[in-house]
Amino acid sequence: MSLNLIDTSPVRHKISILRDVRTNTKEFRELAGELAQILCYEALRDAPLKRYEVTSPICAADGYLLDENDYVFLPILRAGLGLVDGLLKFMPNARLGHIGLYRDETTLKPVKYYYKTPADISNKHVFILDPMLATAGSALAAIEILREQGVQQLSMICLFAAPEGVRKLEENYPDVTIYAASLDERLNENGYIVPGCGDAGDRLWGTK
Ligand code: PRP
Ligand code: URA
Repeated sequence: MSLNLIDTSPVRHKISILRDVRTNTKEFRELAGELAQILCYEALRDAPLKRYEVTSPICAADGYLLDENDYVFLPILRAGLGLVDGLLKFMPNARLGHIGLYRDETTLKPVKYYYKTPADISNKHVFILDPMLATAGSALAAIEILREQGVQQLSMICLFAAPEGVRKLEENYPDVTIYAASLDERLNENGYIVPGCGDAGDRLWGTK
């Protein structure tokens, strides 16, 4: 099972406001960032730590360092950008790659238009960021490219996931862990998540 559903009470509270058609752009952006941060904390729950000695006002103690250099965040443009700010609040020096993919509206197949990452990411743990995991076409395309670059450790952070997309990812890449805030009911005939939050890119960037 590669789905890790983080549906705690605070997350369900925030996800409900994100769904709400009345939620404005500012609030939508803030909530998406906050949820990304919560999911990232969970995704790093058992992350390896480097030990060092820290001195408190009282005495020396064991300190633990989570090394930002071990990670790369890869937002899928455009909507994935909405998760970046929240993550950078937690890991301000984290390095980022960008992948531009959009879904062709008739075939629902992803079309790549941009790809840039830090040099040699093969030994990094890469977190793919996208608020929506619908058919999983976009996530699969991103994973294929990353695998070609030799990346082994891969996780995906999304806010809304459809069962169809989760199944597809689990079948093709069972070693990629998905951290999601909500597992929704299904996809509709246009490939939109039901109930979902509509078009995440449009809601984040005010394009409709
Ligand atoms: C949305 C979303 C995902 C993709 C999910 O992007 O942000 O990237 O659809 O759908 P899938 O799982 O079926 O591939 P969209 O193509 O609308 O592009 P945008 O972010 O530029 O709006
Ligand atoms: N992309 C979105 O923005 N929303 C969906 O529900 C599905 C794909």
